[in-house]
Amino acid sequence: MDLKALIREIPDFPQPGISFKDISTVIGNAQAFHYIIEELAKGFRADRPEVVVGIESRGYIIGAPLAYALGAGFILVRKPGKLPAATERIDYTLEYGENSLEIHKDAIRPGQRVLIVDDILATGGTVSATAELVRRLGGEIIGYAFLAELDALQGRTKLDGAPIISLVHYED
Ligand code: PRP
Ligand code: MG
Repeated sequence: MDLKALIREIPDFPQPGISFKDISTVIGNAQAFHYIIEELAKGFRADRPEVVVGIESRGYIIGAPLAYALGAGFILVRKPGKLPAATERIDYTLEYGENSLEIHKDAIRPGQRVLIVDDILATGGTVSATAELVRRLGGEIIGYAFLAELDALQGRTKLDGAPIISLVHYED
């Protein structure tokens, strides 16, 4: 299926020179949404993830149905101040500024097999910060799943060598 044709590109959003990848159009397509989840589940089923970690907010769109398809639990990584119990927190730099992410300290048991999911891998700042949170809790990262990847930004070089699957690649 040609997912790229279903992702809308918005020039100069949110700032001049950035071509925004609008996934709302592809996930609004029933066949495409089903295909995305099935393809990513196929890619990681043999690795038996016990939990899927999704990154607020667009990572939840892919992460929660993927966890369901894999028979795994779903863990929230959230923007600061949203999680009610004791949290682990990390500050990081992203494409358009500074950000922080949190996870509940008891969300992952040491040694649990974790699949990390987001919609888009760009600079890799968001997902590498998430990976650090998972490692602090003792999770074993078995892979990374994305709908799309901006290859030129080389975000995957910030990750640790676990398998990465991106269904759509943008070369420039
Ligand atoms: C976007 C996107 C990824 C991240 C990718 O999220 O959904 O999470 O940026 O960029 P990076 O690889 O350079 O870190 P954003 O922070 O815009 O928030 P949202 O998911 O809540 O829309
Ligand atoms: Mg995001």
